[in-house]
Amino acid sequence: MNIIIFGATGRTGSELLRRALSEGHTVTAFVRNPTKLGISHPNLKVEQGEVNRYIDIDTVLKKEKVDAVYSVLGAKSMFKRDMILIDALKNIIQAMEKSDAGKLIHVSFIGAHREAGKLGFLYKYVIPNIMTNLLRDHRDKDALVTQSKLNWILVQPPVLTMGDYNGKYVHEAEIHQDPSRKLKLSRANLADFLLKQGNDSTYDRKAVLVTE
Ligand SMILES: NC(=O)c1ccc[n+]([C@@H]2O[C@H](COP(=O)([O-])OP(=O)(O)OC[C@H]3O[C@@H](n4cnc5c(N)ncnc54)[C@H](OP(=O)(O)O)[C@@H]3O)[C@@H](O)[C@H]2O)c1
Repeated sequence: MNIIIFGATGRTGSELLRRALSEGHTVTAFVRNPTKLGISHPNLKVEQGEVNRYIDIDTVLKKEKVDAVYSVLGAKSMFKRDMILIDALKNIIQAMEKSDAGKLIHVSFIGAHREAGKLGFLYKYVIPNIMTNLLRDHRDKDALVTQSKLNWILVQPPVLTMGDYNGKYVHEAEIHQDPSRKLKLSRANLADFLLKQGNDSTYDRKAVLVTE
């Protein structure tokens, strides 16, 4: 595949980048600070730009046909709104709608799901009361994705960890009550799932919970 990653310098983004390159895919990393990437590879193109500047994103998306666009930008604070990342997603969607880009694979958060309360006390009471702004941002971004004209997948993981890849994770489009579920996911496992979605239509135009 030929893919673009927005957020390639982040913890999930860098796992996705390394996995994609190791599997032989061609990757464009759209970053604000290329020195942070710390990797060079014959199949890696680095594009420097600002996510809230539409022209920067439009220029990159116009360059060539891509199979999947990954949106793994993450807010710096759990408590404040981050309107730049909302603008960034608007820009990505608008530029994709005008281009020949394939599907948008956006990483959200399961806490933003309307039925997240089914997942227990943490998701029913703690997160909604403490991370109100973060949830509001995720819901706004999820709505941008689901209301777009694109082919998309909304990936909604629980808390992310720096654990190793082991391939032991489950995914489902419906939230079920399951007290035995761990509700955490390593970024390495998430990267594996994300990459597989690039050429799998199972969850096209759906939200999907992924957890260990
Ligand atoms: N953390 C969790 O437990 C958790 C749980 C569920 C879902 N998620 C979601 O999973 C995704 C990835 O999370 P993560 O924790 O792996 O991400 P992360 O390590 O915090 O990385 C965030 C990425 O976003 C970029 N970014 C942030 N603000 C930016 C801005 N204003 N302009 C340009 N780039 C900006 C960062 O770029 P720089 O490197 O240049 O700063 C970095 O590449 C996010 O969507 C997050 O909401 C996270």
